[in-house]
Amino acid sequence: MIEFIQATKRYGRSDRNALDHLNLKVGDGCVYGFLGPNGAGKTTAIRLLTGALRPTEGEIRVNGISVAEKPIETKRMIGFVPDSQEMYERLTGVEYLNFMADIFGVSEADRKERAEKYLARFDMTEAARDRIGSYSRGMKQKMAAIGALIHEPPVWVLDEPMVGLDPRASFLLKEEMRARASAGATVFFSTHVLEVAEKLCDRVGIIHKGKLIMEGTPEELLGKTGDASLEEVFLEMTASSQEQA
Ligand SMILES: Nc1ncnc2c1ncn2[C@@H]1O[C@H](COP(=O)(O)OP(=O)(O)OP(=O)(O)O)[C@@H](O)[C@H]1O
Ligand SMILES: [Mg+2]
Repeated sequence: MIEFIQATKRYGRSDRNALDHLNLKVGDGCVYGFLGPNGAGKTTAIRLLTGALRPTEGEIRVNGISVAEKPIETKRMIGFVPDSQEMYERLTGVEYLNFMADIFGVSEADRKERAEKYLARFDMTEAARDRIGSYSRGMKQKMAAIGALIHEPPVWVLDEPMVGLDPRASFLLKEEMRARASAGATVFFSTHVLEVAEKLCDRVGIIHKGKLIMEGTPEELLGKTGDASLEEVFLEMTASSQEQA
């Protein structure tokens, strides 16, 4: 479970909040899609959740524990796939997974079993012997996803995970997101791919100019607006609140 309570972030000299009093609770077993235009505040919210940034105001909790009070404890509960894969290019895939397993204190037996399982699921078994520096963008993305699963965290956070993935890789990732949620984890991800969000997510939130402007199941959002697709809801909501602003 993750909770944002009045979570607000204002960067340096900026005169407005990049994230503005976000209140959001995402329960166990939920795949949550965080949607919003470029610059809406998605990555900012995710960085507050992972503890990479401190909120200007408000609080973030992971399974009831405050990120500000117990940063190490909350970090251990999160597997994070960032939006850019600045990875350890000199390491092989196997070395990278061992490195991640070391950080999270995963036993030899568990790491071996999980690495084999996830490498096979993502078609990366062969590539794992090669250096990450030789990987394509999509391969790096997949390896980052596997690295974030090696400690089988109760919370899986992914920032724009579909970018750069081919249809098969994207399908595999979506399947894994559903599988993690079925196993009881909270899966929280940002995306611009609205068709994916509509099909995959139990709930979605639309954020615009730092504010959460809509939240619910995809069906609820369609019901509220009378739109035929999440794409229509998104375009309508982010256009109208732009006029109001
Ligand atoms: N390090 C930073 N310093 C100053 N301002 C920042 C910084 N990072 C983000 N911002 C600002 O905060 C706002 C929200 O940015 P953020 O990266 O959270 O958006 P986003 O929703 O992830 O967008 P995108 O879809 O393009 O990834 C933007 O106005 C951006 O300019
Ligand atoms: Mg972003």
